Amino acid sequence: MQPLMTKNFITLLFYFVFCLFTLSVTCRDSDLETDCTNRWIHIRRLPPQFNLDLLSNCSEYPLFDDFCPYLANHGLGKKTHNKSHSWYRTDPFMLELIFHRRMLEYPCLTSDPSLANAIYVPYYGGLDSLRFLYGPEVNSSYQHGLDLYEYLVHGDLPDVWSRHYGHDHFMVMARPAWDFSQPLNSDPLYFGTSFLELPEFYNVTALTLEGRAYPWQEQAIPYPTSFHPPNLAFFESWVNRVRRSRRTALMLFAGGGGISANPNVRRSIRLECDNVTSLSANGTGYDKLCDFVDCSNGVCQHDPIRFMKPMLQASFCLQPPGDTPTRRSTFDGILAGCIPVFFEDLSAKKQYGWHLPEEKYEEFSVFISKEDVVFKGLSIVDVLTSIPRSQVRRMREKVLEMMPRVMYIKHGSSLGLRTKKDAFDIAVECTLERIKSRLQEIAAQ
Ligand SMILES: *[C@@H]1O[C@H](CO)[C@@H](O)[C@H](O)[C@H]1NC(C)=O
Ligand SMILES: *[C@@H]1O[C@H](CO)[C@@H](O)[C@H](O)[C@H]1NC(C)=O
Ligand SMILES: *[C@@H]1O[C@H](CO)[C@@H](O)[C@H](O)[C@H]1NC(C)=O
Ligand SMILES: *[C@@H]1O[C@H](CO)[C@@H](O)[C@H](O)[C@H]1NC(C)=O
Ligand SMILES: *[C@@H]1O[C@H](CO)[C@@H](O)[C@H](O)[C@H]1NC(C)=O
Ligand SMILES: *[C@@H]1O[C@H](CO)[C@@H](O)[C@H](O)[C@H]1NC(C)=O
Repeated sequence: MQPLMTKNFITLLFYFVFCLFTLSVTCRDSDLETDCTNRWIHIRRLPPQFNLDLLSNCSEYPLFDDFCPYLANHGLGKKTHNKSHSWYRTDPFMLELIFHRRMLEYPCLTSDPSLANAIYVPYYGGLDSLRFLYGPEVNSSYQHGLDLYEYLVHGDLPDVWSRHYGHDHFMVMARPAWDFSQPLNSDPLYFGTSFLELPEFYNVTALTLEGRAYPWQEQAIPYPTSFHPPNLAFFESWVNRVRRSRRTALMLFAGGGGISANPNVRRSIRLECDNVTSLSANGTGYDKLCDFVDCSNGVCQHDPIRFMKPMLQASFCLQPPGDTPTRRSTFDGILAGCIPVFFEDLSAKKQYGWHLPEEKYEEFSVFISKEDVVFKGLSIVDVLTSIPRSQVRRMREKVLEMMPRVMYIKHGSSLGLRTKKDAFDIAVECTLERIKSRLQEIAAQ
């Protein structure tokens, strides 16, 4: 036992240092590339048990949800209404399908793995985790991923893995990384599987909805929103609507929580919001200072109309942490031209460096420390009303610039829209860059 533990510890230490180094390389996405040099991707063929079969069990996990309705339109979900072109009832956990579908139309695919710069593993890891998180295998979470590893290493084409020991492999796992980071052998103490704790997968890049606080093998990419335009005209007409929209509320909070008596930032927001709505917004240029959309019990999750309209009418959208630091709402708000207000860096700045460049945060967002709000009684309204109108307008323009970067356009979209780099394009480009620099580091060792 003892030597094994020591060896594991050294391995862990090695990876920690190694990954810190790799992750410090930020991704500068270039202008739209048309040349495939250094951008070839091979899609690893997997037995259906690792993806399509998982969809047929969509009603098997009542503790999670019956997710069958969200599978429609290759994971975008059903349209919000029959005449809608760009709006869907999208569930963010379906990103594994959405990404897979988009990958099939990636322009630089190769069927020859030896020519590929990266290997995409179309594994629906989040959906596969449901049997461990909510199903019969709740007490064997350390097994999540072992069958996949077995297939990748000993399956039909073992050379694909052994060529770079998995360093060139990537996959999407559409949940926060916390859900896959349970220490090995700790069942049934903690929620989560141990997929990302398995040394077998340390070399693989996992694209998750939220990363851990310290750098590891995962990289966070935006939560999918409900907006998936099929062509440039629909995208531009939305941008125009966002730009023209009259912002009648200073700030909006769309969410739940904060009803317990314990001090936390959501509770402070609720209290302040209740307090100011009764006061006059007279003289501020807004009809009201705070708007609140109650999304308790998941009522907003698949009903974007509930929050998108209010977001269009607010200057600032509050994005406080909840169970975890990040929120899908951050991206909904950006698409509505609503300036995000963050209360901790882990909510976005330390997560989505590929899509929302860290050095731009001051231009498109506001930061108010949650400690100041909760423990020092700092008023969010005071902070936001003190920002001059001209600066608010400039910030909103920056938010508009970010819009394409955080949306997932519809699969099969027209060529015109493809000239905008969307969240998928940036994720793929930056993954390729990360793999390239990692392979260079290994070669140099
Ligand atoms: C789907 O559910 C059935 C019954 O619950 C189970 O036997 C089967 O292994 C599941 N399939 C997958 C791919 O998880
Ligand atoms: C939407 O279209 C479907 C199929 O075409 C139809 O069954 C349904 O009744 C329509 N719904 C509405 C609200 O029109
Ligand atoms: C998991 O383990 C707990 C505690 O040992 C036990 O109460 C529970 O029944 C187990 N669940 C399953 C599905 O085996
Ligand atoms: C991960 O890569 C290292 C070399 O960088 C290699 O020694 C190790 O065996 C690889 N892990 C797996 C599971 O292939
Ligand atoms: C609510 O308003 C009152 C009166 O302006 C003020 O004394 C109190 O501190 C406010 N409470 C919160 C939570 O902002
Ligand atoms: C708003 O302010 C103006 C002067 O700045 C005043 O005449 C008006 O009565 C105020 N309205 C309310 C509802 O307080």
